[in-house]
Amino acid sequence: MNFELTITKVIDIEADVEIILIINNDLKHPFVQDKKLLKKAGFTGEQDETCLFLEHNRLYVGASSLESSAIRTAAASAMKRLKNTSYESIKVSTYTNQGCTYSLRAMIEGFILGDYTFETYKSKKAKNKIKHISISLDEYSAKVLDIESASMQVHKAQIIADATNFARDIVNTTPEDCYPEVLASIAKELTQNSKLTCTILKPKALKKEKMETLLAVARASRHEPRVIHLSHTPKNAKLTVTLVGKGLTYDAGGLSLKPADYMVTMKSDKSGGSAVLGIMKALSEMNLPIEVHGFVGAVENMIGGDAYKPDDVLVAKNAKTIEVRNTDAEGRLVLADVLCYAQQEVKADYLFDFATLTGACVVGVGQYTSGVMGNNDEIKAMVVKEAKNAGELATALDFNPYLKKTIRSEIADICNISNTRYGGAITAGQFLSEFIDEKHTEKWAHIDIAGPAFVEHAWGENPYGASGAGVRMMMKLLETLSKQ
Ligand code: BES
Ligand code: ZN
Ligand code: ZN
Repeated sequence: MNFELTITKVIDIEADVEIILIINNDLKHPFVQDKKLLKKAGFTGEQDETCLFLEHNRLYVGASSLESSAIRTAAASAMKRLKNTSYESIKVSTYTNQGCTYSLRAMIEGFILGDYTFETYKSKKAKNKIKHISISLDEYSAKVLDIESASMQVHKAQIIADATNFARDIVNTTPEDCYPEVLASIAKELTQNSKLTCTILKPKALKKEKMETLLAVARASRHEPRVIHLSHTPKNAKLTVTLVGKGLTYDAGGLSLKPADYMVTMKSDKSGGSAVLGIMKALSEMNLPIEVHGFVGAVENMIGGDAYKPDDVLVAKNAKTIEVRNTDAEGRLVLADVLCYAQQEVKADYLFDFATLTGACVVGVGQYTSGVMGNNDEIKAMVVKEAKNAGELATALDFNPYLKKTIRSEIADICNISNTRYGGAITAGQFLSEFIDEKHTEKWAHIDIAGPAFVEHAWGENPYGASGAGVRMMMKLLETLSKQ
């Protein structure tokens, strides 16, 4: 799909179909040419409501306001409505919030995100035929826009939305086709046409690095684990950020085997790692002037005669001992080692980890929202704010010392599960905090994406399945940091 910005009025642009957004139910706006027909059709312009007039080649879509989040999902709804039609080109006007071009960016993101389909395993592909979208700078409130800043937003939107779709593709791929080695090769491929560099740690190197908890989780799988380290190191970078992702290419639960219904969708346990790969891709394409390191712990959690067991005591890379009481709480074990390794390799100004870590987070905040944890309220607030600006939902979950006591162990330094069924997202976050060195304590946030990473229905601009959670929020945050 390619985009073209033009100063030509929409009416003078040649295209197969026109998209008109109805803002805040205002059907009287001069952009609306089919007022009577819309009324006849019972269209009121509610958010994401669509009405397609095939004879006129006009598609109307409702948006509750000119804010980015409303425009983004409306644009995605338009693309979903056009699926299976034979239209190949679209024309649309510009909608900004009082001249602020973020809404333009959101509209482009919505088009690309809404157009996404995952058809790798379908024998008949029903891909959208839309190839070209012309955007007229004729603005909804007659604001005059600077074409350069507008085209910059279009460019950024394309990079970020494509990277989100890239992450979605990885997550949606089956565990048979996407195992740790494959994740590593995808990371390697990212270095082909970019300045990214990549190091892959194989089992021998992981042993040397004393990443025994990660190796224990990986042991029963026929697929060897990998740790991926991607780097974006522009000259004169003033800031360094480290990202760590949980890349469980499958989580069967291990010997604490998941019940059948809970195991389905666990190919999505690589969503954190996939988000990190997507972020690194977007970052290098945008060439943001900050140094960023992306680490992924790529492992498969299976059962077998050599599986690690409940009752085992493992020694993490930082020498802390962990009593295993549930092999399904494996993500924190993998992250413990990868967090230690990442901090050994890079002294960062900010450290963020992304993980589908707990079902408890989904129970607590619902399936559309990520939980943001850490020791520093400002960093948590920054993540929540930037997520919202980017079109993702996130909320802060606060640690407290009483919950911290629930992961004590009688026989080791710490236990991999809590002794209470309450507050599971927070106790998992507090477990991870044991592997953050003093230097990074106030610089770290843990983002539990277990809910939004994979949802079995379409929502907003997201499709059935993988959403690419984390990519947009972190790109927005990194963009903000790079301007400071
Ligand atoms: N990968 C799961 C968490 C998860 C659940 C992700 C639902 C996405 C959707 C994680 O490894 C896990 O199994 N966690 C356990 C922890 C428990 C054993 C303390 C959980 O949430 O039940
Ligand atoms: Zn698990
Ligand atoms: Zn898991």
